[in-house]
Amino acid sequence: MFRIISLVALSATGTAFVHPGALHTTRDFERINTHVTNGDEPWNTAWTLLTTSKFAQSSYLPSPKATVYRGANGVDTENYPSLYRDTAAAYQLAIRWKVTNDTSYADAAVNILSSWAMTLTAIDGTSDKYLASGLYGYQMANAAEIMSDYSGWASRNKTATATMLSDIFASMNMLFLEEHNGNDYYHYYANWDQCNLASLLAIGIFTDNQTMYDYALDYFRSGPSNGALPVFAIENYTVTESGSNKILTQGQEAGRDQGHATLDMALLGIIAQQAYNQGDDLFSTYSNEILNAAEYVGKYNVGYDVPYTMYESYEGNQTVISNSSRGEIRPGFELLSAHYGQLKGLDSSWTDAYRNMVNANSTDGVEGGGGNYASTSGGFDALGFGTLLYRIS
Ligand SMILES: *[C@@H]1O[C@H](CO)[C@@H](O)[C@H](O)[C@H]1NC(C)=O
Ligand SMILES: *[C@@H]1O[C@H](CO)[C@@H](O)[C@H](O)[C@H]1NC(C)=O
Ligand SMILES: *[C@@H]1O[C@H](CO)[C@@H](O)[C@H](O)[C@H]1NC(C)=O
Ligand SMILES: *[C@@H]1O[C@H](CO)[C@@H](O)[C@H](O)[C@H]1NC(C)=O
Ligand SMILES: *[C@@H]1O[C@H](CO)[C@@H](O)[C@H](O)[C@H]1NC(C)=O
Ligand SMILES: *[C@@H]1O[C@H](CO)[C@@H](O)[C@H](O)[C@H]1NC(C)=O
Ligand SMILES: *[C@@H]1O[C@H](CO)[C@@H](O)[C@H](O)[C@H]1NC(C)=O
Repeated sequence: MFRIISLVALSATGTAFVHPGALHTTRDFERINTHVTNGDEPWNTAWTLLTTSKFAQSSYLPSPKATVYRGANGVDTENYPSLYRDTAAAYQLAIRWKVTNDTSYADAAVNILSSWAMTLTAIDGTSDKYLASGLYGYQMANAAEIMSDYSGWASRNKTATATMLSDIFASMNMLFLEEHNGNDYYHYYANWDQCNLASLLAIGIFTDNQTMYDYALDYFRSGPSNGALPVFAIENYTVTESGSNKILTQGQEAGRDQGHATLDMALLGIIAQQAYNQGDDLFSTYSNEILNAAEYVGKYNVGYDVPYTMYESYEGNQTVISNSSRGEIRPGFELLSAHYGQLKGLDSSWTDAYRNMVNANSTDGVEGGGGNYASTSGGFDALGFGTLLYRIS
């Protein structure tokens, strides 16, 4: 049904997908460029943070691997940092090109993507290989999508990148969502499904694969396992704050730890933003459930108590909300605040409060990206730079 709506909306352009149109559209880049050109704050500071990133330099050279290993399997040496660093670089360089039109950044970005496409044959390790397929799949596809209209990207190399994303990443994304590595639907926490769904959406868009895109959209709306929105949302609570009612939604990882609870929100924002740019509004699905879940996570992580219902996880019953890593600093909430608070004018006060707490943790007061947080994988789970990329006002 959602396809019919989109086809009507898209028939004017005659193409199935908007390009660039995963996390960012041409209109977004125009807004960003205007703010940067005018020296407006906080965009100007956010732009400086990006341009001083070591991953956003045209001298950046990739270290592609034939097989990427994530997860210590006792045999192979983990080498996946090369993939997340190179992917962060491709993305940051792609943005730098879009905002400046300086092709030295474009050439460096497509060199990273093309080099991986010519080298990578498999992603392996432990079950963690499915985190790699999801996280780095959506990230690489987003870098590729930004570069999709760069005339200097040799068509053979662009096709090779699409083939790598489809054959290696998307195949693993599908396999994970269908089979969960041989486990039942409740075994893997929500972020595993969510990153693989984000990847399928992004690869579907970049490769113009409607079947892939529709599969991910359907799965997210009504799929059987923890990353699907109806399964992810454990309980709704109506709370009264300053005289008005607000709904807080407990997410699937609340009783596990706050590092993963905040990661889930970053991934939900990515899923919804990618679909939104193709005309499918998942932000509003189930009465803005993503906002309600972000409000819950935001409120608890900035230091206030929230209601909680026992959750039966595969590891046992989680009877109280987990305070492990409470106050975790993670990028991702700029996107949520921008969409719900600024674009839609909804009450996103706890989402904004968490965003502000994350930003206050940086010396610049803006959201950073890959390389600005932990140097280990967690610092690269989200592409970040949300103050620059999503903030409207
Ligand atoms: C970059 O090129 C595009 C398309 O030609 C143009 O619309 C935009 O204004 C340019 N931006 C800059 C910063 O030169
Ligand atoms: C394809 O990409 C590789 C790696 O960046 C580069 O060496 C090669 O020149 C590119 N091919 C063409 C035709 O531009
Ligand atoms: C499109 O995606 C589906 C999986 O959803 C896959 O089976 C198919 O091979 C893809 N098509 C192309 C042309 O890659
Ligand atoms: C939470 O509320 C939304 C919107 O009404 C609803 O779709 C969803 O099923 C509710 N979830 C739970 C767990 O009650
Ligand atoms: C978890 O809680 C459920 C519902 O109260 C109960 O049936 C189950 O036995 C509990 N499991 C464990 C391992 O305590
Ligand atoms: C964190 O939660 C544990 C388990 O519920 C509890 O014992 C501990 O007091 C809590 N710590 C803080 C700082 O709230
Ligand atoms: C950011 O958070 C970390 C961990 O909580 C803390 O150690 C550090 O001092 C904070 N930095 C700033 C600038 O607030």
